[in-house]
Amino acid sequence: MTAPLDPHAGADLRHVRKSLPHDSAGKHVTGTAVYIDDILEPIGTLHVVPGWAREAVRGRIRSMDFDPVRAAPGVVAVLTAEDIPGHNDCSPSIGGDPVLADGEILFHGQVVFAVIAETRAAARKAARLARIEVEPQTPIVSVEDAIAADITVLPDYQFRRGSPETGMATAERCLSGVFHIGGQEHFYLEGQAALAVPGEDGAMLVHSSTQHPSEVQHILGKVLAVPDAAVTVEVRRMGGGFGGKESQANQWAALAALAARATKRPCKIRLDRDDDMIMTGKRHDFRVEWSVGHNETGRIRVVDMDLFARCGYSADLSLGVVDRTMFHADSSYFYPDAAIRSRRLRTDTCSNTAFRGFGGPQGMLAAERMIDAIAISLGLDPLEVRKRNFYDEARNLTPYGMPVEEWRTLHAIVAQLEKDSTYWDRREAVRGYNARNHVLKKGLALTPVKFGISFTLKHLNQAGALVHLYTDGSVQLNHGGTEMGQGLYQKVAQVVADELGVTLDKVHITATNTSKVPNTGPTAASSGTDLNAMAALNAARTIKDRLIAFAAERYQCDPKQIAFHDNRVRVGSREVPLAEVARAAHLARIHLSDAGFYASPKITWDRDSASGRPFLYFAYGAACAEVTVDTMTGEMVVDRVDILHDVGKSLNPAIDIGQIEGGFVQGMGWLTTEELVWDEHGRLRTHAPSTYKIPTASDVPEDFRVALYDSPGNPEETIYRSKAVGEPPVMLANAVFCAITDALASLRPGRLPPLDAPATPEAIMRAVHAMKAQEAPA
Ligand code: MTE
Ligand code: MOS
Repeated sequence: MTAPLDPHAGADLRHVRKSLPHDSAGKHVTGTAVYIDDILEPIGTLHVVPGWAREAVRGRIRSMDFDPVRAAPGVVAVLTAEDIPGHNDCSPSIGGDPVLADGEILFHGQVVFAVIAETRAAARKAARLARIEVEPQTPIVSVEDAIAADITVLPDYQFRRGSPETGMATAERCLSGVFHIGGQEHFYLEGQAALAVPGEDGAMLVHSSTQHPSEVQHILGKVLAVPDAAVTVEVRRMGGGFGGKESQANQWAALAALAARATKRPCKIRLDRDDDMIMTGKRHDFRVEWSVGHNETGRIRVVDMDLFARCGYSADLSLGVVDRTMFHADSSYFYPDAAIRSRRLRTDTCSNTAFRGFGGPQGMLAAERMIDAIAISLGLDPLEVRKRNFYDEARNLTPYGMPVEEWRTLHAIVAQLEKDSTYWDRREAVRGYNARNHVLKKGLALTPVKFGISFTLKHLNQAGALVHLYTDGSVQLNHGGTEMGQGLYQKVAQVVADELGVTLDKVHITATNTSKVPNTGPTAASSGTDLNAMAALNAARTIKDRLIAFAAERYQCDPKQIAFHDNRVRVGSREVPLAEVARAAHLARIHLSDAGFYASPKITWDRDSASGRPFLYFAYGAACAEVTVDTMTGEMVVDRVDILHDVGKSLNPAIDIGQIEGGFVQGMGWLTTEELVWDEHGRLRTHAPSTYKIPTASDVPEDFRVALYDSPGNPEETIYRSKAVGEPPVMLANAVFCAITDALASLRPGRLPPLDAPATPEAIMRAVHAMKAQEAPA
């Protein structure tokens, strides 16, 4: 397929590796980038608003009365489950996600009906007039409720190595604990949205804010009872997805399309922010029960971990998400013997889903918690204990059997960051500060990141692209990846520009569209660039190869003497504009378009036998965070953060650094201020920015030093030896949580602060009180 891309082979790179701005940067900041709600509405567009039973918790629907809704001004129609011509389900996996409630309410906030009206305001007002009576049941809300009820959405799963039981019995020391890790609301700035335009013969064009256009297409085919071929899904960009639009965009596209089908008019849906937060799934929260056996030096002998995930009312993507938690429950540490078990618990709450890191952050944080516990109990520096447990040459097999081939990269990054951040000097300074200060306590932590790159569902590791060269020398670029702000379109355009030797202004980027590139996977698992840039490169290379063969004959020169750069083709000693070559090739009936394809090599994971290689490679990084905690108020300030992150040979350092900064800050929000609260009725109480605190510009650390690791390049043959960057930086924020733990640990040496995530001021105060209490609770 693709020839190996040796980064040292002296390729003529004019765009790749350059810090070029995001292709839409200007449009983003001037407000001219078009999101779904900015698309000029076709004449006659109607507006759809989802309706729900505001008072109801889980239970059977006794009666529904929509007469007042229908009678409201501006209302054109009301849709219920009975109006769905096809299958009433928008699940990305095993089913269980009704588009509209069918006889029962599965969680507080479930959509029961849809109002279609001439204006959005009219639809919103009318939606409140429905009378829905529900026979209430006692909802299962928390992880603990679900454990007690013993109810799951998917079977349990485990990794096991050696004999954890014997290991635990013979280890010099054992520790155990229970740790809660909170979920996270995506809070994409553009909420869920779709615009459906009906066409001839049952055709439907849907503009959807989705990470997975092919799946939206497929779901609409089933819901509308039309062939997939009748449905076209297009997405130019999302105003953020973060995993929240990998599967959860389906329902809204389905409602818009159902409305368009029913009314034969274009129909648009744009969720209200509160509805969006109440109705859509979030990052899974976990209860982790852990035990670790280790020796006096802090070296781990055995780990036993139970990961209990709150999945919500349906399976959604919980199979892959919780598997990824298990895959990352080792963080960067070698566990000689291990039992890592998971339970996917069903609760009567929204269906939890993908969120940047896809379960990985939760697994890694649990591992860091164990390391902190070991270090604190032994009175050792946590960084020392971390390093003693790192994968290395002899001890490099993960609990799921994949070797950590690049363990040297992990060691090199941590060693360099340890030095650059002057960790040990600052450790002394923090100790001194804490000895001098009674109320304010400082904490310091340096934590690693190792994140597996590839979809663990093997067939998703493929991509397609469509590249056209026109006879004026301009290029149209399309691929299956979606743009959500991460810079994927820009990176792929850089690769294509260099392959065809054109300037970037000649490459016209077009919206992702299922009629151009079919059967794609979601843009997720950080693999967008790895997959789509390679597919686009393959397409461009095929076109170029055809032009080379043509030009060699026409200009009578050795193909090796033909090169493409700056919109020109060098043929032997002559330079000809690319447009001229393209025109001549066209007259000679040469095909100037190609559909490229790429499938990642080496992935062999077999879930049933829990064996094989789930990841093509790992992305590494490390962060050092220093915090100050006010032990009177629970306030916390992140004073300084140093990050060293591995993106292989970067395709675009500016975009990569943006991803690292953004990912870190998003992770910090998850671990410090973003708290989801459900009441005992299963009602989400934090469904607006007034009660749910995401980080803002003022939360960015005052002293924030982000650097790219000077990598020799990805040892795997990825696109120009780069590495994926979308998700791994989230886990750099573990350093902040560990630094807070470190600060609190100074209150009572030897005792692990009873701190759960997120470390909100309340959580910090609870931990402070427990640390200061005379006798330590059991
Ligand atoms: N960056 C921005 N600005 N907006 C986003 O929605 N999503 C993240 C990450 N970075 C996201 C983002 C997530 S969850 C993933 S999986 C990757 O981008 C997806 O894009 P990629 O595969 O092209 O990196
Ligand atoms: Mo990202 S959570 O894989 O969409």
